[in-house]
Amino acid sequence: MAQEKVRITDLPRMKAAGTPITMLTAYDYPFAKIFDQAGVDILLIGDSLGMVVQGADSTLPVTLTDVLYHLKMVVRARQRALVVADLPFLSYQVSPEQALRNAGRLIKEGAEAVKLEGGTTMSQTIRRVVEIDIPVMGHIGLTPQSIHRMGGHRVQGRHSGRGAGCRERLLDDAAAVEEAGAFAIVLEGIPADLAAEITGQLSIPTIGIGAGSSCDGQVLVMHDMLGLSEAFVPRFAKPYARLWQEAAAATTSYIKEVRERSFPGPQHWYGNKRA
Ligand code: KIV
Repeated sequence: MAQEKVRITDLPRMKAAGTPITMLTAYDYPFAKIFDQAGVDILLIGDSLGMVVQGADSTLPVTLTDVLYHLKMVVRARQRALVVADLPFLSYQVSPEQALRNAGRLIKEGAEAVKLEGGTTMSQTIRRVVEIDIPVMGHIGLTPQSIHRMGGHRVQGRHSGRGAGCRERLLDDAAAVEEAGAFAIVLEGIPADLAAEITGQLSIPTIGIGAGSSCDGQVLVMHDMLGLSEAFVPRFAKPYARLWQEAAAATTSYIKEVRERSFPGPQHWYGNKRA
């Protein structure tokens, strides 16, 4: 695997060559380092941190300060991957000026691009951010910041029509995001055939999550990929490890050994300094 730095300009080439783009969320130094060294193409400081790190039941409470805090740790670990940071709820929807200011703060802390949710309604904002040379990744379909409109984290694009979340509307949204100058787009929680149609229509790469295998790349939340969630694993996610169970078992062993005084052993303690 090529270990050169991944840049925005590599992504269209990867789409053209049919090379799948790999993306994972990361929120701290050790995991960002593991993913970067393993060769993942894009690290996303996702506002999913609200749910998987902070324990909230949606992404809505996440602030720009939260994203900046995690971004700094990921940037310190990253050598090769492209770093993309999420603009959280209400950090860009108020006005394009607000979006510019907050996107700029993420770039100043080391992000190479920002991601924001929304299609046609966000196209003007995307255009303005791109105009000042801040690369934007779009995100349509199941957009977690729209949880109340969607009535929960529900698959979108199953019904035809041009209402929010309907099939033809998502085709319009994807086209609007590309037209506005985004360099890539996340397609989340939509039927695989719709994702394939969008991927065929757009010249920018599509990165899927719960959107089938035809997208130009795939993204997973790291906790889902590593089995680091207590119970619920969404249908679209595949746990490649069982870190929750491993951590629980390790903790149980530690508690047991301390209680029975088998830890620490002589190899873990210090003797007196010799004269
Ligand atoms: O916040 C996030 O982690 C995301 C990914 C699911 C794409 O937006």
